[in-house]
Amino acid sequence: MAALARSVLVTGSNRGIGLELVRQLAASPQAPQHIFATCRDPDGPRGKALRELSAQHPSIRLVQLDTVDLPSIRRAVQVVESCLEGQGLNLLVNNAGIGSHATLQSVDSQEMLAAFATNVVGPLQVAKEFLPLLEKAAKGAQKTRLSCSRAVIVNVSSKVGSIGLCLGVLEAPMYPYRASKAAQNMVTRCLAAELRDKGILCMAIHPGWVKTDMGTEQAPMTVERSVQGILAVLGSLSQETSGTFLDWEGNSLPW
Ligand SMILES: NC(=O)c1ccc[n+]([C@@H]2O[C@H](COP(=O)([O-])OP(=O)(O)OC[C@H]3O[C@@H](n4cnc5c(N)ncnc54)[C@H](OP(=O)(O)O)[C@@H]3O)[C@@H](O)[C@H]2O)c1
Repeated sequence: MAALARSVLVTGSNRGIGLELVRQLAASPQAPQHIFATCRDPDGPRGKALRELSAQHPSIRLVQLDTVDLPSIRRAVQVVESCLEGQGLNLLVNNAGIGSHATLQSVDSQEMLAAFATNVVGPLQVAKEFLPLLEKAAKGAQKTRLSCSRAVIVNVSSKVGSIGLCLGVLEAPMYPYRASKAAQNMVTRCLAAELRDKGILCMAIHPGWVKTDMGTEQAPMTVERSVQGILAVLGSLSQETSGTFLDWEGNSLPW
């Protein structure tokens, strides 16, 4: 089986879904040559699990990247560019995100803005700053079809951000989280339409309800299973799935 991509960057990879993505990518028989595992504080206590993982895999490179801090994103671009030695970046996974359980009674502007900063502005700025490296990968690819071996932006979204489904609002209102994921979905659609002709595919993925700090122990699915599904979906991306919203099993979701 061919490698999913030569180079991959994952945001928020020190725990949860991001950490498991890096773990499974590095352990795969055809591991990417470069796995840029980014997080806010790679040298601090929150980066411990990622540091331990990277010590076992020379393909993993830890990079500091706070998705709401533009200078940090720009420094990360420079580090990645120098590691790639003239090649482009094939796969960007905008995974970093924050949750919020605010209800109509408890919600305030601060919590709304914090969710938008991390879940909408962050992935957009990261995509914008890494665009030259993605374009380089898209141009340099031997194949003309859209795929992860060429250039892809994946935005990790959530089914609860689907306006079409508008699931369980009374049980889990989560105004900031839902609204921010819906806005992130529009960013995904716009990027997909704008970047398609440049050879860059953009799509949104719902990882399922997963046992992580955000998903809590109540979640029905392990992070290992979710990530197995996500990686299978990423491996199947093509022209037809550009600009789509899929779940970890590849099922199409309404925006
Ligand atoms: N778990 C679920 O059931 C579920 C369901 C649907 C969608 N999702 C989505 O899946 C993604 C990953 O979620 P998860 O369950 O793995 O959550 P998690 O366990 O809470 O992990 C969130 C990750 O995002 C990072 N992060 C937050 N703000 C950041 C910032 N400004 N810059 C860089 N990294 C930042 C965190 O880093 P720190 O350690 O530094 O805080 C952490 O690594 C999110 O986008 C989430 O919305 C999750």
